Amino acid sequence: MSAIIIDGVAMAKQVLAEQKARADKLAQQARPPGLAVVLVGDDQASAVYVRSKERACRDAGVRTFDTRLPATTTEAELLQKVDALNRDPQVHGILVQLPLPAHINAVTVLQRIALAKDVDGFTWRSLGALLDGHPNLAPCTPSGSMLMLERSGVPIAGRHAVVIGRSSIVGKPAALMLLERNATVTICHSRTTDLAAMTRQADILICAIGRSRMVTADMIKPGAAVVDVGINRSADGKLCGDVDFDAVRERAGWITPVPGGVGPMTVAMVIANVITAAERTIG
Ligand code: GUN
Repeated sequence: MSAIIIDGVAMAKQVLAEQKARADKLAQQARPPGLAVVLVGDDQASAVYVRSKERACRDAGVRTFDTRLPATTTEAELLQKVDALNRDPQVHGILVQLPLPAHINAVTVLQRIALAKDVDGFTWRSLGALLDGHPNLAPCTPSGSMLMLERSGVPIAGRHAVVIGRSSIVGKPAALMLLERNATVTICHSRTTDLAAMTRQADILICAIGRSRMVTADMIKPGAAVVDVGINRSADGKLCGDVDFDAVRERAGWITPVPGGVGPMTVAMVIANVITAAERTIG
């Protein structure tokens, strides 16, 4: 069997077109949605991510407010900037790109973002709302992954979903979202004793590990849906995911590629969150 490849580029394009319609409606009501992107320092990968988010904003009719700050910016200066964006009525979403320079406490900065503008869904209050089944704005990588499953017709309710990874921005929220859709959920991590024994039970497998091609075909239940959240560089310098794509696609029922899978969907979900935040200001 060869898996259905879930095309994140095509699906993100469709999601962005849907967002454009929502954004246009807001613009007609003199309330064009706006995203503030804050980038501190000169991390190359962050600059690439930020550019792709800003390009997607343009395509979807979302205004962007750029803040580029030097690596020497103090935590107090950055907090002041966040406070100013919290007060700015033209800004509906605030995204502080991670990682921040080591001398800045990222937790302190992220918690300062107003709940209504937390389009990354990283604040404790947003995560708490998700835990209690009343999402504010959901974290974008797991919500993009969920949409890929849903729009591909992958059955979720009653199925066994295994999530590898327990970060607060992917693994844990992904597990909560699957639970909310009535999957039976197992969370695995670096200290799981027999990972393959767990993954072989998975009807849905979410891989958020950060290690090149670690998930191999023998770890996959035939016909499973495999979502690869990893973005890694392999030894030969190529971009690759956590999943050994070429082998796993012969065993899985559905699979997301890297690149061109979850990444573009994450960007599309940021835009969707900005527009949702803007719509809420109209009520
Ligand atoms: N750095 C890498 N991914 C992300 C993300 O989704 N949001 C933010 N703010 N920073 C990131």
